[in-house]
Amino acid sequence: MATVTLPPGPTTPLVVQTFHALTAPLRGIPRLRDRYGDAFTINHPVFRRAVVISDPGEVRQLLLTSPEIADNLDINLGQVLGPASLFALRGQAHRQQRKLLVPPFHGRRLVAYERIVEEETVRELATWPRDRPFATMPSMMRITLNTILRAVFGAEGAEFAELRELLPRAVTLGSRLALLPLPRVSLGGLSPWGRFWAMRRRYDEIVERLIEAAEGGGDLDAREDILATMLQSRYDDGSAMSHAEISDQLLTLLVAGHETTATTLAWAVERLRRHPEVLRELAEEVDEGGAALRQATIYEVQRTRPVIDIIGRQVRADGFQLGRWTLPRGCVVLVSIALLHEDESVFPDARTFDPHRFLDTRPDLYQWIPFGGGTRRCVGAAFANMEMDVVLRTMLRDTVLLPTGEPGERWHSRGVASAPGRGGLAVVRDRTPLAPEGSDRVTEAA
Ligand code: HEM
Repeated sequence: MATVTLPPGPTTPLVVQTFHALTAPLRGIPRLRDRYGDAFTINHPVFRRAVVISDPGEVRQLLLTSPEIADNLDINLGQVLGPASLFALRGQAHRQQRKLLVPPFHGRRLVAYERIVEEETVRELATWPRDRPFATMPSMMRITLNTILRAVFGAEGAEFAELRELLPRAVTLGSRLALLPLPRVSLGGLSPWGRFWAMRRRYDEIVERLIEAAEGGGDLDAREDILATMLQSRYDDGSAMSHAEISDQLLTLLVAGHETTATTLAWAVERLRRHPEVLRELAEEVDEGGAALRQATIYEVQRTRPVIDIIGRQVRADGFQLGRWTLPRGCVVLVSIALLHEDESVFPDARTFDPHRFLDTRPDLYQWIPFGGGTRRCVGAAFANMEMDVVLRTMLRDTVLLPTGEPGERWHSRGVASAPGRGGLAVVRDRTPLAPEGSDRVTEAA
C-alpha cells in the first residue's frame, strides 16, 4: 500500500478546531493558508480529517479525476432532499440522472425563461424605496424563488402560493439537519426532524398535484417548464422518471439554485456601488443594447465573491496521488474556491475588482470555479447566469443605482451560501429619460 502523505496542518484538538470553524467559518481558511501554504490538513467538525487544497494544478487534477477515484462527499443530503437527489447519488446512478437533467438547462430553453425573470424583477423593482438605503437580499430571494417555482416547477395558482410559503422554511431547517447525524429513535413530531418530515410530506403532496395537472392538461409537449421535461424524459432503457424521483430532483434544484443566485445578485449590487466607473459603463451598455461588460461583471462578481466557498470530494480508492500528496481511501478533499480565485498566478492583481479582465473572454472552467467543476459541476450554471444577467439588465434599465463611498460589506454565512453582511444595501432612483450625449448620469445622480 502507498505511504500516505498529507499536507501539514494545525494539531489542536477537534473541539478547538470545531470552535474556530463555527465562530469564524470564513476567516479560518485564509489564516491557515498564511500559516501552512496552499494545502493543509484540518480537523473539520463534520468531515473530521480533511485536506484543503487551492493550488491551481492540484485543483484541476482533482476536478478531472474520475468519480471512481474521487466522488461526492457522504453527507446526510439523501435524508433531506431524498434518495434520488443528484447530491445523494454517486457513480452510474448519478451519471444517469445528470443525463436527463442537463439538457433542459441549456440553449434555446433558457431564452424562454428570460421573460419570467424579467417579469419577476419588474415586480420587485416597483416595491423598492427611492432615495433611501434598503437591503436587496430579500428582493433577490423572492425573484429567484418565484423564478424557480415558475420555470422549474411549472407552478401557478394555489400550488405556487403554497410552495412559496412552505419551501423557504423547509429549506432553512433541512440545510441545518443535513449536517447532523440522523436520530436512531423517533423524537416525535415536534422535534426538528419530525417537523422537517411533516413539511416534506406536504411538499410531496403539492408536487404530486402539479404532476397530475401536467399529465392531465393535454399540453405537455408545449410546456417549457422543467417538471414537464422530466415527465417526458426517458432513461437509456426507455423507462420514465418516477414521481418520487421528480419530487426529489425538483427540491434539489430549488435548494441548489435559489439562495446561491440571490446571494450572488446581492453581492453584485454591493460591488457595483463601490465601483462607480463600472456602474456607469454598464448603464451606458444597457442603453446601447450591449451585454459583454455585464457578462464580464457577473464573472468577476463570482470570482471575487464566490457564495459557495468550498466544494468537496471523497477519495474512493487506495493511495490516490493528488499532486504532492498521497491520500488514503475515505479522505475528504476540500477545494477552497476563494483561495484559488485569489491566486495571483491565475488572476493577476487578484484583489482588485476588475470586470474588464473577462471582457470578451470566457474563464477557464478549472480555474474560475464558483460553480464547482468536472462531473459534478453545477447543473444550473447556465440558468443562474441567464437569471443574473436579466435581473441586472432590468435593474440597470429601470433604475439608477447610486454609488457609495462606504467600506465593502463583510461576509456573512447563511448556511447554504455566504451573503453580504448588510444584505447588499442599495439606494436607487427612478431613471429619468436619457441624458444628452456626453453627460455622466450615474455621477450626476450621486
Ligand atoms: C450563482 C448561483 C449558483 C452557484 C454559485 C452554484 C454553485 C454550485 C456549486 C459550487 C455546486 C457544487 C459543484 C461541485 O461539487 O463541483 C453546485 C451543484 C449543483 N447546482 Fe448549483 N449553483 C448555482 C445555481 C444553481 C441553479 C440555478 C440550479 C438549478 C436550478 C443549481 C443546481 C445545482 C445542482 C443540481 C447541483 C448538483 C450537481 C451534481 O451533483 O451533479 N445551481 N452548484
